[in-house]
Amino acid sequence: MLHLLTLFLSIMYCRALDLSLSDNKWKTYLNADNMNNGRRGQLLLSNAQSASECASACIEELGEDPTNGCTSYTFYHDDYHVSRLGGKCYGDTDGVWAPTYSSLEMPGVYGGVTSGQNDPLNYVTTCSSIDDCSANGLCSAETNTCECYPQWMGKYCGQLNFIPTNKESGLQSEDKNGRVSSWGGSVLRGEDGKYHMFAAEMSHNTGIVVWMSNSRIRHAESDDGEVFVASDITSPVWGHEPTAARAPTGEYVVFFTANFQSIPCSGSECMNGDDGNSVIDEENCLPDTQCNSYPDLLTYMIYSKDPAGPWSTPELIPTGDFGSSDTNLAPIILDDGSLIGLGRPPFIWRAKVWNDTSTYVVEEVESTVLGEDPFLYIDPHDKSILHGLSHAGGWDSRGAHSWSLDGGKTWKVHEDIASYGSLIEYTDGTTGVLTRRERPHLVLGKDGELLALTNGATLDPCTHPEYCEKDYCFTALQKLNQDPRY
Ligand SMILES: *[C@@H]1O[C@H](CO)[C@@H](O)[C@H](O)[C@H]1NC(C)=O
Repeated sequence: MLHLLTLFLSIMYCRALDLSLSDNKWKTYLNADNMNNGRRGQLLLSNAQSASECASACIEELGEDPTNGCTSYTFYHDDYHVSRLGGKCYGDTDGVWAPTYSSLEMPGVYGGVTSGQNDPLNYVTTCSSIDDCSANGLCSAETNTCECYPQWMGKYCGQLNFIPTNKESGLQSEDKNGRVSSWGGSVLRGEDGKYHMFAAEMSHNTGIVVWMSNSRIRHAESDDGEVFVASDITSPVWGHEPTAARAPTGEYVVFFTANFQSIPCSGSECMNGDDGNSVIDEENCLPDTQCNSYPDLLTYMIYSKDPAGPWSTPELIPTGDFGSSDTNLAPIILDDGSLIGLGRPPFIWRAKVWNDTSTYVVEEVESTVLGEDPFLYIDPHDKSILHGLSHAGGWDSRGAHSWSLDGGKTWKVHEDIASYGSLIEYTDGTTGVLTRRERPHLVLGKDGELLALTNGATLDPCTHPEYCEKDYCFTALQKLNQDPRY
């Protein structure tokens, strides 16, 4: 009853507020600058008062067609840090969606900018090959336009098509001392029908800035592939950035950065956590930018037939010309037991036999993914196509997608489209701004179909560790559309 009333009132409120926005086709992103400080797009208004006024002006001036009319607007609020832009409203018709995001915490320096996309679901991309559709859809020979798979939308089918998600989704753990931070999780579906996540988790209720001294690998489980519950510890402090793969013989194989001899940064774990936030001190609780020691961050592999272990003895993964920094390695194991993995760009790992580290080779290719934190997966519609997702870099919440039609030798990317941004929409009708959104991993279903995206994320309006008092992080999960009509 209460729900119905709320729904009714919110519909009424929308109608009264702004007719052009009431159809909900806009995707609105706080703190997103899609016009690159006014260097792109057309100036539509110099003294706009609100984002919705800017959206209306964009439709009026450039047209409502989501492909050839207004495709996006950017509105700089009065308090935007570049004062000459305050109140300015820009629009464009080129379909570009690659905004930069920034901290909400320091509105004087960052923040104060809102962007909106006009109905990206109905953007029509003209194509002559599957590359024009990012291999995320087919290029129709009849219409010469892209037909995006249900999980993708927008120009080049380059944007993930999210649907509202349960607010409890992902890994948002608590123990008797309060919240437990985690920073991204790699998910595999088991024969038991359950989903198993291997996540980087911070010990002692600390947050992301002490990851160099407090990270460990956590196994969490979920029946529905959405809400995960912490189970056992896969590998204790110190280990970070796990990505897991299944071997054709059934093993769960976890690749992660680890140090089994000593704890990086200060030599010991930070014990001062406060409900998922780190309490920094100069002895043992140093942020990653002020460590006393930065040892080699090497990559190891462990495996087990049971996702709860016991695990094999960790084996060092060769890094070849890549060197000794953390590889971000994200492999998949093929049906013949061979392996291919994306590391930090532009490096690729290959192995003839996944469990024989003497067969691993590291190749430097021309390019792979943008930024860092790659994730690699096989196209569920055409097994010859490889896809990569990554964090586009820096302190930004932007994701990037790339693909390879030749088994990983060459990769393509449409740099003017972000695969995901900072916006997360919940089933209760509210939204959140993920001020950091890194470590992307897709949750894949029984047939390899794309079900959801997980990320290491922060919701608190804070990004850079130098400025963060609150550094709680969690593993966010957002579901992807499965309905072919949308
Ligand atoms: C790799 O795994 C397979 C299947 O479990 C096993 O038969 C083989 O002996 C393993 N090879 C090595 C080098 O461990």
